[in-house]
Amino acid sequence: MASTTFLTLPSGKKMPQLGLGTWLSPPGIVQGAVEVAIKNGYRHIDCAYFYDNEGAIGEAFEKVLKEGPVKREDLFVVSKLWNSYHAPEDVKPACLETLKLLRLDYLDLYLMHSPMGIKNVKGDTLPQKDGKVLQTDVDYVDTWKAMEKLVDEGLVKSIGVANFNQCQLERLLSIARIKPDVLQVERHVYQIQRALIAFTKAKKMALTGYSPLTSPKRPFPPGPLDPKNGMEDPVVKEIAKKHGKSPAQILIRFNIQSGIATIPKSQTPAHIIENSKVFDFRLTDEEMKKLESLHCGARAVAWDILGMGTHKHYPFTKDE
Ligand SMILES: NC(=O)c1ccc[n+]([C@@H]2O[C@H](COP(=O)([O-])OP(=O)(O)OC[C@H]3O[C@@H](n4cnc5c(N)ncnc54)[C@H](OP(=O)(O)O)[C@@H]3O)[C@@H](O)[C@H]2O)c1
Repeated sequence: MASTTFLTLPSGKKMPQLGLGTWLSPPGIVQGAVEVAIKNGYRHIDCAYFYDNEGAIGEAFEKVLKEGPVKREDLFVVSKLWNSYHAPEDVKPACLETLKLLRLDYLDLYLMHSPMGIKNVKGDTLPQKDGKVLQTDVDYVDTWKAMEKLVDEGLVKSIGVANFNQCQLERLLSIARIKPDVLQVERHVYQIQRALIAFTKAKKMALTGYSPLTSPKRPFPPGPLDPKNGMEDPVVKEIAKKHGKSPAQILIRFNIQSGIATIPKSQTPAHIIENSKVFDFRLTDEEMKKLESLHCGARAVAWDILGMGTHKHYPFTKDE
């Protein structure tokens, strides 16, 4: 039985479809989560400088790689360039800092975390004035050109973007010397991303769906686009009962069977193991359609906090 399946990226690299999310996994706990995940077959680990836990994840990588049998080339490690480092001269130092924290000498995939640049204020990932994040209008195309050089230098094997809309992606594709391998966006039963999945498939890019479990513990004030907790949805629960699986496993399988990668976050060993057991059953076409019909355009991570909704490059101007 497969413990994961792979997507082939335009660069020819293979990305495991199932990964471990690490946002909100605190240092002290995330090390154990990463170790449990790798021991239970996860090979794709989704990190980001912004999550403020890369140093702790680096400890886990060092331990696992030292103990074996997993080798560096077996892992697919992803990190993300934070919005404060969009100025071209800041891109390489930001990547080097992430590599140092993760205790690695290359990343498998480096994503631009969003198209929206913000001010680079040392030690502050969300610099603010009057309750608003200090924005910059650095063009993400210029940031991309600096990311291409990271591939040339062997610091990253592959590059991509997160939270870009289709127009932004089209513009990037039109100038890119190295095409983006991956688009990472929110994707679950309430936000099925039909248009972006079709677009990335047509461009032969891979799509990674974040917040597959609808991010029930997201730390944002309540907003109009909030999704319900998908694990409590009666439709999801009914399908779970039929397969003898948990609602979380149904939500993860929904993304896997849609031909995309997905990165459920968990810091709880029992959940991490449960979430990996999604390759021993199949949802029927009718069940997939039922799950797709739950789409309502909800977004757990709308990125419009602290005035970011007014950013020149804010991506979510309309529902896909
Ligand atoms: N690029 C971006 O802008 C972006 C934005 C958001 C997220 N992401 C990435 O995507 C990952 C996943 O998204 P997310 O963290 O927003 O949310 P998520 O994966 O949809 O949900 C995580 C929540 O579900 C719980 N959970 C996990 N497995 C469970 C299970 N089997 N049964 C019951 N509850 C379970 C977790 O609690 P426990 O920890 O206790 O299991 C946690 O509270 C992130 O961690 C991050 O790596 C990227």
